[in-house]
Amino acid sequence: MRIILLFSSLFISSAAFANNVDDARKTIKAFSTDLKQILVSTMQQNGPIAAISVCNTAAPAITPQHSNSAWQISRSALKTRNPDNQPDEWLRNVLLNFEQRKLNGEPIAKIEHQTQRSDGWYFIKAIPTQKACLACHGSDIAPEVAKKIAALYPSDQATNFKQGDIRGAFIVKKPIKKHQQ
Ligand code: HEC
Repeated sequence: MRIILLFSSLFISSAAFANNVDDARKTIKAFSTDLKQILVSTMQQNGPIAAISVCNTAAPAITPQHSNSAWQISRSALKTRNPDNQPDEWLRNVLLNFEQRKLNGEPIAKIEHQTQRSDGWYFIKAIPTQKACLACHGSDIAPEVAKKIAALYPSDQATNFKQGDIRGAFIVKKPIKKHQQ
């Protein structure tokens, strides 16, 4: 009987995580589509300098729209532009592991990780560097763009990326509700 109970509770919790993964992927997709759309349209209409200001305010501004009491979404990277996005040691290890998985030949689109921690459930998904990112994260950044980035982010590390590198990761956290603890 105990064994049956154990198996059924394992089954229920893995089913719940499967749902979480689908929801987390959807949350990330919606957030990244919105971000890229704002970025690309501003780049096209007003150029990269204006887009930096958008990126600087748009990412933090649209983040709450894609977060709610059940989900919190954020971005991080091994090399960050905004020091607020720096990973803690645990997340840094996840991101280092992502680099290893990429070296082992795994496509970036498939690189994900999920884990239960004491404060909630986490889903982390690698972000590929695309061509559209290079104007601000590549190695050939226009001088006036570089100047503006340096003014806003004096400790910027997020340059010299190539297309196909891992630029960073989205992190979706589902916090443990207080009454469940
Ligand atoms: C117009 C310039 C610009 C372009 C183009 C751009 N970014 Fe950024 N990116 C920034 C700025 C500015 C920040 C800092 C935002 C902030 O303050 O949170 C940033 C931050 C980030 C971060 C958060 C981690 C960090 O470094 O602080 C990620 C991840 C990221 N960008 C990925 C991308 C990807 C992927 C693309 C291409 C699809 C892209 N960026 C294109 C300017 C740009």
